[in-house]
Amino acid sequence: MAWHVVFLWFWVFWLHSVVGQNYEETITHFPEVKDGKCVFPFRYRGGTFHDCVMFNSKHRWCSLNETYQGYWKYCSEEDFAKCMFPFWYRRLIYSECTDDGDLFGKKWCSLTRNYNKDKVWKYCD
Ligand SMILES: *[C@@H]1O[C@H](CO)[C@@H](O)[C@H](O)[C@H]1NC(C)=O
Repeated sequence: MAWHVVFLWFWVFWLHSVVGQNYEETITHFPEVKDGKCVFPFRYRGGTFHDCVMFNSKHRWCSLNETYQGYWKYCSEEDFAKCMFPFWYRRLIYSECTDDGDLFGKKWCSLTRNYNKDKVWKYCD
């Protein structure tokens, strides 16, 4: 293996353990609020998230407060972030999923009204 591959390998392991520790410390310490509602975007450990997150968990979860404070739940189908229509991308307003700008020609949508500013998106089903 070339040295940079080895380096990447170690980096991934290191990141995995760090994120894993964060997950153990902060999420499972508190009980899941099963009937809660995800709040997007939410802030968690210095990051801002517009969709459910994984963080070394088998399931994706979300925060129930704008800033995570121990209230959380695992995401089910209806919890994941939804497309936001219409949204602004480059100079156009889109009211449906588009393949514009996608390298693979797959349809995507923005998770906020202003893609140019927020740059959060997901692929459409
Ligand atoms: C955070 O969300 C939970 C669940 O919705 C709620 O009970 C709690 O009051 C919220 N905390 C704050 C500070 O708003």
